[in-house]
Amino acid sequence: MRIQVVPVDAFATIASDTITHYFSAEQDVRICFTSGKTPTGTYAEMVRRHQAGEVNAGKVHAFTLDEYAGIAKTHPRSCFQSLSQHLYSGLEWPTHQLLTYDDSLSLSDAADAYERMVVEAGGFELSILGIGLNGHVGFNEPGTPFDSRTHVPKLAETTMQRAHAEGWDDAPTIGLTLGIGTLMESKHVMLMANGRHKADIIARIVNGDISEDIPATAFRDHPDSLLLLDEEAASRL
Ligand code: GLP
Repeated sequence: MRIQVVPVDAFATIASDTITHYFSAEQDVRICFTSGKTPTGTYAEMVRRHQAGEVNAGKVHAFTLDEYAGIAKTHPRSCFQSLSQHLYSGLEWPTHQLLTYDDSLSLSDAADAYERMVVEAGGFELSILGIGLNGHVGFNEPGTPFDSRTHVPKLAETTMQRAHAEGWDDAPTIGLTLGIGTLMESKHVMLMANGRHKADIIARIVNGDISEDIPATAFRDHPDSLLLLDEEAASRL
């Protein structure tokens, strides 16, 4: 895993440069996008580049990383809606370029069908991943096996606290997520973290043992992964 530390105000531009590189592919390209606060500045920059005619998003198939279970993808707090709001609508992607969990299926069928869709498509050229305060990636919470495929996890206490702190009192207690094993098959992985509140977990990810207790450490063994940090998230390294 390569580690790149950048100034706070350069974070969105530098992350966008990687994404732009994949947007420029001449063939269809499959990209997994995380929701969350970490990439919102980056996604705004991608929308700006699209509006300025600087990128061509026509070859991209956009896959949602994870989702709260038991809610429709149109639910205002769904990960899909968050991605639509911050990225997909600004890029004017038609619905056939947007792939996510089928909310009309049972949860385990939705996980299995999504896993099949990803694998049969050939996996991701690029996965853009955030990191939770407990080191989770997607909804792969601490203790998730590194060879996990797309599944239906119970959400960790810290993940629930975060949803409650954001005013979502009856947030689902389970989710849907691409597995660590599924994501490890991505050709390139860009893990992103910004802000001082991520500094402790980043120090553990970089300097601690590789362990299923901290899911993001799996990517230290990925052949082409980047941990992109702003100076605040890197302040305890
Ligand atoms: C959430 C999401 C993850 C996200 C992570 C970090 O629980 N399920 O996909 O990457 O937590 O979120 P944030 O970027 O807001 O810190």
